[in-house]
Amino acid sequence: MKEINIRDLKENVLKMISDDWALLTAGNESGFNTMTVSWGGIGELWGKDVAFIFVRPQRYTKEFIDREKMMTLSFFSGEYKKELGFCGKKSGRDCDKMKETGFTPVFSDGTTYIKEASHVLILKTLAVTDITPDSFLDKTIDESCYPNKDYHKVYIAEIVKTLEK
Ligand SMILES: Cc1cc2nc3c(=O)[nH]c(=O)nc-3n(C[C@H](O)[C@H](O)[C@H](O)COP(=O)(O)O)c2cc1C
Repeated sequence: MKEINIRDLKENVLKMISDDWALLTAGNESGFNTMTVSWGGIGELWGKDVAFIFVRPQRYTKEFIDREKMMTLSFFSGEYKKELGFCGKKSGRDCDKMKETGFTPVFSDGTTYIKEASHVLILKTLAVTDITPDSFLDKTIDESCYPNKDYHKVYIAEIVKTLEK
């Protein structure tokens, strides 16, 4: 992995997150967890390059995000879809996702990323906010995306490093 300027990224970021998916990982050598994400974004806020991440309250990974303040997004250019499907279906509360998928954790910058990734964003959480039922102007989103009322937490995180294979 080499560090690059995110402005030199050639890939389409919308495709990377929405079509190819990513692994959101938090924690370190003493304990970490990872989960698949396909909602989110990359942009600019408060004069910083940031990622916007959406995590439902029941995710085990959320415990590590809230504890550690650093986290990563690992992208895979369409490879490893089967493994990403597994990490998006099973909880780290019930299995060892690294063992089950063959992925390799890399401990760096006080957090963890996935060695097999083509690109990695190292992130520092700046703010956490809530999606609430009264947020919706389009009420169909509440019905279709939150039948269990498990509204996402929104994490706004500074991109402190961008790594490319
Ligand atoms: C393609 C895909 C995308 C997903 N995107 C998100 C997401 O953006 N936010 C979220 O909270 N869960 C998302 N999930 C669900 C979590 O990855 C899933 O519940 C996972 O098992 C949580 O693992 P954990 O309990 O070990 O944290 C997604 C799942 C899949 C398959």
